[in-house]
Amino acid sequence: MQKRMRVALLTSGGDCPGLNAAIRAIGKSLFGNAEGVELFGMCDGFSGLIRSEYIRLRRDDLAGILTEGGTILGTSRQSYVPGKAILDEDGNDAMPAMMRTYEALGLDCLVVMGGNGTQKGALLMQNAGMNVVTLPKTIDNDIYGTDTTFGFQSAANIATQVIDYIHTTASSHRRIFLVELMGRDAGWLTLTAGISSGADVVLIPEIPYDIHAVAAAIEERRRHGRNFSILAVAEGAVSRDDAVLDEETSRRRREQQRHPTVSYHLAELLEEMTGQETRVTIPGHFQRGGPPCPHDRLLATRFGAEAARLIMEGRFGRMVAMQNGQITSVPLTEAASRTKFLSPDDPVIRDARQIGICFGD
Ligand code: F6P
Repeated sequence: MQKRMRVALLTSGGDCPGLNAAIRAIGKSLFGNAEGVELFGMCDGFSGLIRSEYIRLRRDDLAGILTEGGTILGTSRQSYVPGKAILDEDGNDAMPAMMRTYEALGLDCLVVMGGNGTQKGALLMQNAGMNVVTLPKTIDNDIYGTDTTFGFQSAANIATQVIDYIHTTASSHRRIFLVELMGRDAGWLTLTAGISSGADVVLIPEIPYDIHAVAAAIEERRRHGRNFSILAVAEGAVSRDDAVLDEETSRRRREQQRHPTVSYHLAELLEEMTGQETRVTIPGHFQRGGPPCPHDRLLATRFGAEAARLIMEGRFGRMVAMQNGQITSVPLTEAASRTKFLSPDDPVIRDARQIGICFGD
């Protein structure tokens, strides 16, 4: 009897450049190296698995997608009861419906590409009896167990370019500019783009800021004849005072804020304190768009190849990872256990401080 291998791919959470490169690499690896492969793509993330909406992926479907941003499968954000359940759109446990689709398709493995929430969801699926392999994707670079994620470098390139462009207008008008970057509660993107673009101040969630220290750094620049200043501000940047609040109080504090984001709040304070005209630029989802940069094409391709190896070897319940420059994999239990934040003692931060970048502390 001819051997058969049925694999489904699913992309979940916020999209990022490199997802299609990974889909292509998994498909090409399986079609080229295993017998009787049947490949499926779940539509729009977990909701495709819940509603049994999928497409058949043939070799030809993988052609020409390496350089395309986004995901050809579509994606969606899912609600979870953390560590307990993936919820459907009515707020019910989606596991029975997902299991029905998995079994009806006779799947040997489900490949899940996603960020932190998705890794946790994938662990629940593995625990429920599905064979799952995951890939770490996010522009936030905050997945535990891997040194890097695909999508991150492409976003860092865009964020860096945004600040590069802001430099000329900031200096011409002698203004303070705050460029607010994505990354959720982690500062990887802001740190990388901030240093790479020569920002004067970098504010990341892992180092709560003191507004007086930020204003002092701007004044110091002015004393040295630098009449403009650029701040790279993480969307999750937090003041020293707010950093010590419990979750509930800080949620209420955010609701009471009259500014839409942290940068607008900081801009108002800094304009008052320094008397210098101040502007805010938020590139937003621009950071997640467009084609993957060469680094992410390579990384996603290598992650995809490793995912296919895991499937062919029957090693499930694992997330593909990069550790110390080597492609490897880690148990999903480890990857889903926590978020990877920057350490304030990170050598990159040390070097940035050494060249005079202010972290607002
Ligand atoms: O996790 C990726 C990310 O782009 C974060 O950096 C950002 O906070 C969030 O997603 C934005 O989410 P959405 O696309 O749902 O607005």
